[in-house]
Amino acid sequence: MAGQRENRTLEKFIVEGGTRLSGEVTIGGAKNAVVAIIPATILAKGPCIIENVPNISDVGYLLKILTEMGASVAFLDKTTVRIDTTHITSPLVPYELARHLRASYYFLGALIGRCQEASVSMPGGCHFGVRPIDQHMKGFESLGTRINIDHGMINATVEGSLTGSHIYFDVVSVGATINVMLAAVRAKGLTILENAAKEPHIVDLANFLNTMGADVRGAGTDVIKIHGVDIMRGADYSIIPDQIEAGTYMIAAAATFGDVLIKNVIPKHMESVSNKLIKSGAVVEEFDDSIRVSRTGPIMPTTIKTMPHPGFPTDMQPQMTAMLAMAQGTSVVTEGVWDNRFRYVDELSRLGANIQVDGKVAVVQGVERLTGAPVKATDLRAGAAMLIAAFMASGSTEIEDVYHIERGYEDIVEKFRCLGAKIRHVDIPDVDAPAAL
Ligand code: EPU
Repeated sequence: MAGQRENRTLEKFIVEGGTRLSGEVTIGGAKNAVVAIIPATILAKGPCIIENVPNISDVGYLLKILTEMGASVAFLDKTTVRIDTTHITSPLVPYELARHLRASYYFLGALIGRCQEASVSMPGGCHFGVRPIDQHMKGFESLGTRINIDHGMINATVEGSLTGSHIYFDVVSVGATINVMLAAVRAKGLTILENAAKEPHIVDLANFLNTMGADVRGAGTDVIKIHGVDIMRGADYSIIPDQIEAGTYMIAAAATFGDVLIKNVIPKHMESVSNKLIKSGAVVEEFDDSIRVSRTGPIMPTTIKTMPHPGFPTDMQPQMTAMLAMAQGTSVVTEGVWDNRFRYVDELSRLGANIQVDGKVAVVQGVERLTGAPVKATDLRAGAAMLIAAFMASGSTEIEDVYHIERGYEDIVEKFRCLGAKIRHVDIPDVDAPAAL
């Protein structure tokens, strides 16, 4: 009714800073692996059981999309889901479901592989400037698919039969490598992907596809060879630990002069982050499947340049910049993957950080003190950076738009609380919500 306010609430995290984090934390399954593996279940005849599934909202959205398509989905316990896509009825992913996350576009590759047609709305996800999908389209077209984009829907139809091809990606793209791999496993003959992405989640997806009966070789290198198969079956599979969640807790420990044992990690995946933390003066000890990070000395400045794997991950750049905001000297952070991934710097400045951004380079002049203030999570990893800065700051920080953080970090409030952080999740009425018409 006119004049009435919508009944909206604002979710916030409220952090009292100044605590050294200590104790143990267990890392969940990798977000960027599970968001590819859930759509990949479409390729199977028969049920898949996926273990080590993280409790994040992106997983919820993907499972909802599958359910709407006619799949049966049931959690067997908190981290294990059974998915049976045998009876899916529609190759359609509409806007209202796709808009929440980037990975909704993986349904394109999987549906092309299974149904030879797909109609998927342009995806959502974090905004780091333009996020083109030309390399995905190039790959699909090369496999014999006609693509037409109409009113925000990407419509794909296989002309004749899906046929293996030699595809050279013009840029290293995680999304394009995954999407084209999802279609190519069912194409006739051999597909060669050159200049492919090498991230751990690419390898995890390839392992899952192979467990389902696909023939994918070379994942983790820049040339992936895929022999198409006629039939893929349901499989049981456990997702790898989340490299970025682990790195976030590692940096949080180092930033707060803490001492944290991070369990369920693959130390090899963490090498670039561990090296930079050591350069910054932290102590990093590696064990078989855990890493301990502690710090007693000052935060030393360092240079960071983000690169595709095995370089320093772009998804760790905001968290590292937050820590370097209190380094003893000047650090230079260069973003080598995205055009515009420094939007969060304005928010860090509200806490007293001294950071100058020029295009893809941030010059971080360390300050002695950050002080709490109201800030926004401008995207998922920016939100993690706000948390780290809030732990370092004196006083209270309120972080808004935490739904971004919940897209990719499971139980983050509880996990940080167990490490001694003073953090609360509050849900308050939004008195500034616009009047409903
Ligand atoms: N690019 C193109 N054309 C394409 C695809 C990508 O030019 O067709 C460019 C992009 O503009 C960018 C670069 O290639 O400059 C790399 O993009 P990529 O395709 O690798 O990124 P993505 O697949 O969209 C995934 C992760 C991101 C992560 C990047 C880079 C998922 C769901 N998302 O995105 O993760 O930043 O790879 O590692 O896997 C996050 O988890 O917070 C996140 C944003």
